[in-house]
Amino acid sequence: MPKFIHVSVAWPYANGDLHVGHLAGAYLPADIFARYHRLVGNRVLMVSGSDSHGTPISVEADKRGVPARQVFEHYHRRFLLTQQKIGISYDLFTHTDTENHHRIAQDFFLTLLERGCLYKQSQKLLYSEQEKRFLPDRYVEGQCYICGFESARGDQCDNCGNLLDATQLINPHNRGNPSDKLVVRESEHFFLDLARFEPELLAYLAQHEHHWRPNVTRFSRNFIADGLQGRPITRDIDWGIDVPLPGWEHKKLYVWFEAVMGYFTASVEWARNTGQPDAWKQWWYNPEAEIYNFIGKDNIPFHTIIWQAELLGVSGIYNDGSDQPINLPYDVPANEFMNIEGKQFSKSRNWAIWLPDILERYQPDAVRYYVAMTFPETADSDFAWDGFLNRVNNELLATWGNLANRMLSFAYKRFDGRVPAVAWDDLTADDRAIIAQSEAAFEQIGGLLAAVKLRDALQAGMALAKDANAYLDRRAPWKTIKDDPDDAARAVYAILRVIDNLKILLAPFLPFSSQKLHEFLGYEGQLFGDLKIVEYAETTRRHEALVYDGSTASGRWTPSALPPGQALREPQPLFVKLDPEIVDRERAYLGAPREERPITL
Ligand code: MF3
Ligand code: ZN
Repeated sequence: MPKFIHVSVAWPYANGDLHVGHLAGAYLPADIFARYHRLVGNRVLMVSGSDSHGTPISVEADKRGVPARQVFEHYHRRFLLTQQKIGISYDLFTHTDTENHHRIAQDFFLTLLERGCLYKQSQKLLYSEQEKRFLPDRYVEGQCYICGFESARGDQCDNCGNLLDATQLINPHNRGNPSDKLVVRESEHFFLDLARFEPELLAYLAQHEHHWRPNVTRFSRNFIADGLQGRPITRDIDWGIDVPLPGWEHKKLYVWFEAVMGYFTASVEWARNTGQPDAWKQWWYNPEAEIYNFIGKDNIPFHTIIWQAELLGVSGIYNDGSDQPINLPYDVPANEFMNIEGKQFSKSRNWAIWLPDILERYQPDAVRYYVAMTFPETADSDFAWDGFLNRVNNELLATWGNLANRMLSFAYKRFDGRVPAVAWDDLTADDRAIIAQSEAAFEQIGGLLAAVKLRDALQAGMALAKDANAYLDRRAPWKTIKDDPDDAARAVYAILRVIDNLKILLAPFLPFSSQKLHEFLGYEGQLFGDLKIVEYAETTRRHEALVYDGSTASGRWTPSALPPGQALREPQPLFVKLDPEIVDRERAYLGAPREERPITL
């Protein structure tokens, strides 16, 4: 029986290009996990989209002097192209400014309100007399009331690092306009009553934490132990989703309140787009389904506490009166951070590796390989260009690419363009042992992938490739072919079979090169489906989305029975060898001004 696996991936703010931190934190782990489950034959629904609201978008729009919508549309389009290029196989990558998302977010709000999960309270906030509006914390500057630093931000002091209450800043003023002195005013807002969910959240944690990563459990436990406070879920801003109540025309839903709902709303949108409007229930109301949230560690409480509270509060929604509870995430495999050459990512200082830029220069599988080998699964990690060079040239190429390429070329040239026609009974013990080892790897690596130990899974695949190289050195068919061509044929058959298995074992990590290899080995068809950019029309708006179409996929997570005698296709090298010069060249881009270029496919 196929399992229903929901892969919920953090929604990137559409205020700048995607960078390797995004890839390492959430998108690549999610994609590897989803591809694995697809090969197994499970029913995967992987969704995300552009987070189009929130002050990060407004701040960028103000900086450029353009409307917020323009900023988000620009980056949404770039997100689609970038992720298509690197192969993040979303069943649907949409955005939060669709009619569908607005409507469901408002339904969630009204349901929570009706069930008593929200309360109204007046908040003290900073108001600009000049702009006649309440200013979000990020627009506020003033003297830190803890360390005295002159230009602390409304939410945090960059000098002492403390989180701040903007209303307590000394001499608060508008960040962009120091003459605009801010005053404290009261404003009424809705709060999510987190405390009422405490017993259910504790039961939920107790049920799941044994299979969660320790840092995720620790963080979530501490968050509850510190006392669950009501969270304001509306804001005095004008870019966002309307509060669906009369008298609230000048306020919007808080971005974090509605963005997490995207996992649900995108599932509903996917179902409708694919002409099976109820299909989303197989993931959200099926007690056998499992939901995995792939996120970075800065987002943990939103995905282990607050989103759960929202789901508990609306449980049963859109399910025709059934009392089946809505599914909460089964696992939240949060990654830590990936630094760049030993320093933290910084957009303002351009200390970043931008995906659209490096995808112009490197193969997607090379980037995927290095990032997956350095996943910050248990601690912060580092993207270093000499590490990239070494791992691509000395591992991906030397251990894996060359193995496949050498043996395919050898078979192609010396065995008449065919897989040598060898019977199982003729193989030597050594031949059978390496084949058996590659077959056993399906269970071992599959177990690691299912447990979201992705780096270990990739290492196990590469260890097998190493053993395959050692086997080949022992058997040396290029020597034996002169005196004992039958023995050479046996070795070539065995190694091609191992390569055929490695092709699948590595496919979740290296989908592009595995597909090429699949073709060189003489097979027809695709391991995975296609990633397309599709336009959808709603009543008043159209939007573009990235969509994985699995209907053409035929890859399977099972050992191969490579047919003896199968005709091969002329092989080409799988990977490009990198010039050591790239290290200095790439380092020079860090911290230097960057120009955003069009993305070519
Ligand atoms: N946009 C947020 C960020 O980049 C993440 C949102 S995840 C979501 O940090 F689920 F809330 F959308
Ligand atoms: Zn301070």
